[in-house]
Amino acid sequence: MGAPEPGTVGPDGPDLVLVLPDADATRAFGRALAARLRAGDLVILTGDLGAGKTTLTQGVGAGLGVRGQVASPTFIVAREHPSLVGGPALVHVDAYRLGSLDEVDALDLDSSLDDSVTIVEWGQGLVEALAGDRLEVVLERPRGAGGVPTDGADDPHGGRASEEEAPEAGERRVVLRGVGQRWADLDVATLARDAGTAPAARPAQQS
Ligand SMILES: Nc1ncnc2c1ncn2[C@@H]1O[C@H](COP(=O)(O)OP(=O)(O)OP(=O)(O)O)[C@@H](O)[C@H]1O
Ligand SMILES: [Mg+2]
Repeated sequence: MGAPEPGTVGPDGPDLVLVLPDADATRAFGRALAARLRAGDLVILTGDLGAGKTTLTQGVGAGLGVRGQVASPTFIVAREHPSLVGGPALVHVDAYRLGSLDEVDALDLDSSLDDSVTIVEWGQGLVEALAGDRLEVVLERPRGAGGVPTDGADDPHGGRASEEEAPEAGERRVVLRGVGQRWADLDVATLARDAGTAPAARPAQQS
């Protein structure tokens, strides 16, 4: 079976799956993740509308100690948050509206990548080429967990102001997958501990 070594999300390691019961847990996870991030890292966030990608990025921003409010940009696609503590900046990209590699190129993320932690919402299939290694973070809303689809919120990037917690309540699951050597040693046990959350079994996939 070639069972991968437990405790890593490395190139051949297993996915790490954590349960995030509420938005605070998502932020706490972001803070814990931030402690493991460094300049040059590329993190790709995947998940449905309202899955918690921006919330997680807010936690990373808090953990990195950067300036400015990490938010869902209405028109701004990429925003750089400089460090207040002498660390790497956070470059937060929302690629929701980007349709082509040309548009990604136009952001010139290359120029900031080496000195920053770059986090890209909706980046899957678009920004992998930016860096050799990447951390893929997938946020899932388990079906039947109380979450209601965001009906009437067709444009969540522009019109989601009133949905504080209630309509999108329901726990999330986060799945981490490291691609490349950079992530080979990411210790999932301490990450889970620092995030204050428990690893969960990967659903629907048992060897
Ligand atoms: N673990 C969680 N449990 C319940 N609600 C959560 C959790 N994490 C985040 N939320 C809530 O989900 C809502 C949407 O979060 P957020 O804006 O971060 O999603 P998003 O994935 O960035 O959305 P978009 O696809 O529009 O960019 C917010 O109200 C947030 O508080
Ligand atoms: Mg978002």
